Amino acid sequence: MNHLRQPIIAGNWKMNIPADFQNFIAGISKNTAKNASLVICPPFSHLGSVAAQNNHRNFQVGAQNVHHENSGAYTGEVSASMLASVGVQYVIIGHSERRQYQAEGHEVLAPKLQRVLEQNMIGIYCVGETLEERKSGRFLEVIDQQLKTIPKDFPAENLVIAYEPVWAIGTGETASPEQANEVHAHIRNFLKMTFGEDFANSIRILYGGSMKPSNAAELLAQPEVDGGLIGGASLVLEDFLAIAAAADNQ
Ligand code: PGA
Repeated sequence: MNHLRQPIIAGNWKMNIPADFQNFIAGISKNTAKNASLVICPPFSHLGSVAAQNNHRNFQVGAQNVHHENSGAYTGEVSASMLASVGVQYVIIGHSERRQYQAEGHEVLAPKLQRVLEQNMIGIYCVGETLEERKSGRFLEVIDQQLKTIPKDFPAENLVIAYEPVWAIGTGETASPEQANEVHAHIRNFLKMTFGEDFANSIRILYGGSMKPSNAAELLAQPEVDGGLIGGASLVLEDFLAIAAAADNQ
């Protein structure tokens, strides 16, 4: 971890709610991490309630998705201004599950980033290769293609990147700290070539894919890893706080 970049530990609940939801929110509100920022990304149904209970500002609230238009006849969708109006500060964009199950690609992901920027929220833009792409050896090209979606002149303060190898999501298999660091360094170099050195050096690049208390410290110790996007372990209060503590203690 590089101490110029404040670490972020973000919990992606996906389509789940922690077993004891109220206890979870009470516990997270007592978060004492000083250095690491915590972000909770519940399903749409719970965003307003989680944001409203965040009295002490000990964590921030993120959405898992947003629609790429501002308003209109899009049944079932939610716009960036609606998210901002209930206190959402972060939005996950381009998660591999949405790329896979909703066929989301560049055409919708680029405008989604733009909508998030217009509301001055922060996009957590996810990139990552499948197992097949890793085995083929062309995984860095795949990641470059995904990074090309970030609009020109996008401000660094509105962007976080999450590297999530698809083969490590929810599988219990984690990228080794060295594998994660290698890809993070590649991403940072891509950002440097495209957006300049200051931009690249200030962007937080999170690792995601089976991060848990037992492997968090060694992943977060890598110089290019600036935090984590946590799925399964973010639903268990003790595990999530343990990962936050690991980030805080780097
Ligand atoms: P996981 O999910 O921690 O359960 O592997 C990470 C993610 O998909 O964001």
